[in-house]
Amino acid sequence: MPKTHRVAVIVGSLRRDSLNRKLAKALATMAPPSLAFEIVEIGGLPLYNQDDDANPPAPSVAFKEKIAAADAVLFVTPEYNRSVPGVLKNAIDVGSRPYGKSAWSGKPGAVISVSPGAIGGFGANHHLRQSLVFLNVPAMAQPEAYIGGGGDLFDEAGAVKKPETVKFLEKFLAAFSTWIERNTEAQA
Ligand SMILES: Cc1cc2nc3c(=O)[nH]c(=O)nc-3n(C[C@H](O)[C@H](O)[C@H](O)COP(=O)(O)O)c2cc1C
Repeated sequence: MPKTHRVAVIVGSLRRDSLNRKLAKALATMAPPSLAFEIVEIGGLPLYNQDDDANPPAPSVAFKEKIAAADAVLFVTPEYNRSVPGVLKNAIDVGSRPYGKSAWSGKPGAVISVSPGAIGGFGANHHLRQSLVFLNVPAMAQPEAYIGGGGDLFDEAGAVKKPETVKFLEKFLAAFSTWIERNTEAQA
């Protein structure tokens, strides 16, 4: 039987009605049996402060433990001012330190950006990928997922409305599962 991979899902928005959170939840219901999604919350993390490296705050330690326990990471994020929201960058920084003790290193990853706009958060998606290179997170290249028109993406129950978008997301999830397999094997 194929292994089930635990995927830590990081949502880059704290907004109550976040489109990105809705997509993260929808993806969890659409995922193949090989992927088990868990949203790891970032809203309660203190702002990263290097002075705390010797004695990090409890929420930061707990966050790092959740990332460390996952087999892979999925980022679902909006674009803020053509980059990643500060809360997401803070979570990335918190997870990356103290130096040499990053929780991210070697975890296969993927990025989806959602925006009401037409460009689908391309800028945030790629700024995030820049950090992932340094963090040694092998980020899946294809299919790229810039989801535009996010305001019309979901029905009342939070399901993705358009069949072609559902099909694309299923393809994305299947590719991510394969990506995790390959990159986990590569490390073993
Ligand atoms: C501070 C701020 C900056 C934004 N900058 C961008 C942007 O650069 N590109 C974009 O497509 N949307 C931008 N938006 C609009 C967001 O895409 C929109 O609010 C979206 O719904 C946020 O994602 P969420 O629904 O998951 O919270 C911005 C929104 C805020 C609050």
